[in-house]
Amino acid sequence: MIVEKNKFAAIVTECDYENDTDKIRELIGDCRVVVVRNNNPVPPETLVSFYKTIGEVVSQNTKVKGNVAGHGELIKVRKNGLFSGEEDGELEWHSAGMNRKGHDDVVVMYMHQNAESGGNTFFSDSQTAFTDLDDDTKDILRNIKSKIVTYNAKLKLEQMYYKRIFSDEQTMMEFKDIDGQNSFEKQTPRKDLVTAHPINNKEGLYFPWTVIRGFSGISKDAQHNLYYKLKNHTQDEKYVYEHEWNNYDICFSDQHHSLHKREAYTGDRELWRAGIWYRDEEVKEKADETIEYRDHQAGSYDEWSCESLIK
Ligand SMILES: [Fe+2]
Repeated sequence: MIVEKNKFAAIVTECDYENDTDKIRELIGDCRVVVVRNNNPVPPETLVSFYKTIGEVVSQNTKVKGNVAGHGELIKVRKNGLFSGEEDGELEWHSAGMNRKGHDDVVVMYMHQNAESGGNTFFSDSQTAFTDLDDDTKDILRNIKSKIVTYNAKLKLEQMYYKRIFSDEQTMMEFKDIDGQNSFEKQTPRKDLVTAHPINNKEGLYFPWTVIRGFSGISKDAQHNLYYKLKNHTQDEKYVYEHEWNNYDICFSDQHHSLHKREAYTGDRELWRAGIWYRDEEVKEKADETIEYRDHQAGSYDEWSCESLIK
């Protein structure tokens, strides 16, 4: 296969789905986003078997609407479907499972039908953004946990972020992780701000700022300042790659040290999404390491000291 770089992203052509798997896996760890270009449509079954060489692929049951030709591993992302975003198709920065324990290691997107206009996806690189910080700041951040918004059952679809992710209540309540547990029930209000990447073991920021409402163990002012400092820093253009889609692109997106967002679009854009979990059990345990504050935190608005998604 041929690999070119565009900022931190790896752009791959002439990929051999059977023999290039290890290289793709490594690239995901090092590059945050790996785009595999294809000249022709890739059948759903080929996509699924390719993804299964990278890790375990989550298969949703039929109660989750929008699978591709009966393949529960591939979920259609389109208007009036899952992850539909705002009316105009815009979807704010996010990553998979940003408010829950454990999450897809990789999200894969396959462009079945590109938008007429717009619809570019932006990816961030918070591994390099962390590497570039000074040593004192790194030390401070290593000991901090982010306060994460959680949703109780009452809030569910009615408000906030989830409305733009899940098409209906049943889909939200049925959406599962690889362990078969309902994603909704795995929410956690605290997550480490600095984590080691399971592939290359490098440190990076786990900073899904759209659901972060502060940090534990520091004053309110310090929380506020840190939030905006990190938000500005990670949004620097050095750490953001804008992907212009071609039909049949496969985009592997790291979910540890990267966020992604979609701009507004027109046309009947249809992308197929899958979630991949790395197989190594030790890796999983590390990623699941969070502290249980959920019981007294779920659904609480009290701590919101930074930006809010409620408009
Ligand atoms: Fe996404």
